[in-house]
Amino acid sequence: MSDKQTYLTGITTTGTPHLGNYVGAIRPAIEASEVIGNESYFFLADYHALIKCTDPALVRQSRREIAATWLALGLDPDVVTFYRQSDIPEIMELTWILTCLAAKGLLNRAHAYKASVQANEDNGSADSDKGITMGLFNYPVLMSADILMFKATKVPVGKDQVQHIEMARDIAQRFNHHYGELLVLPDVVVSEQAVLSGLDGRKMSKSYGNTIALFDAEKKLRKGIMKIKTNSQEPGEPKDTEGNTVFEIYKAFATSDQVSEFSQAYADGIAWGDAKQQLYELINAQMTEPRERYNELMAEPEKVETVLKCGAAKAREHSVPYLKQLREAVGISS
Ligand code: TRP
Repeated sequence: MSDKQTYLTGITTTGTPHLGNYVGAIRPAIEASEVIGNESYFFLADYHALIKCTDPALVRQSRREIAATWLALGLDPDVVTFYRQSDIPEIMELTWILTCLAAKGLLNRAHAYKASVQANEDNGSADSDKGITMGLFNYPVLMSADILMFKATKVPVGKDQVQHIEMARDIAQRFNHHYGELLVLPDVVVSEQAVLSGLDGRKMSKSYGNTIALFDAEKKLRKGIMKIKTNSQEPGEPKDTEGNTVFEIYKAFATSDQVSEFSQAYADGIAWGDAKQQLYELINAQMTEPRERYNELMAEPEKVETVLKCGAAKAREHSVPYLKQLREAVGISS
């Protein structure tokens, strides 16, 4: 048996990438894709985006921004198969086949669905399913199709997604039980996702509105960093690095030597304004080149389009014949 692994991960295309996405997901995924010998599939989960977002312009915009971000940060489409979920119609067909196998009871237990039901109950709503779409309910099945379509063996995700990989395994097992061992059971790889703090000290997240966008222009980036909440300690007072947001963000971007120096500066009572200025300079230096590439890519959408179309063609070399096999197995074929 070869130990070559197939890594696959999807990025839901809602929102503009921020520093927290970079440190927690984008940087580790690109680094992992550079390891020779494995195969990687990265895709833009734009059909997943429809679950959360009914504004077509936003879906389009976010998809463009996210594609340009990953490419600007060095994702190599010759190494990784990089595509849009919506360019692979086989995923949708497989979703239906899997929907017919997935137990409703299994999906009743999905965290995202349960949380929505709970919210309705807490609000005293007469209908505990109020406002919940079938898209949200069926989300783990679509995600299973994403994974199973490409025979992924390793799926790196954050902790909140572990349950979905378990569901994919469960559904795949049912398929294999009825139709033969055609689907590969994926393993979850829980990324010990570095969690970056946001402006207010809570986890940097779009839902808290405390983010700093990754590719803000210099001035805006600096302004964002200057807004990070600090305490009222005066310049000259020794400062604690522990639990300090400026320090934590700095650490996520710095070498260990830089961290020691910065930590010494805290002990020496650096002023908050100066600490933030140093943080700005550190991030800005690292982002200058990717930001230029990003702006170029955003100005030339055809370029990104070409990359994604090539990625889809590469992906479909696999998904088209495989889906044919799966259709035949379930009795749908001409
Ligand atoms: N649901 C994932 C998220 O929100 C994104 C995603 C969609 C995904 N399909 C996937 C991740 C398949 C891994 C594998 O983060």
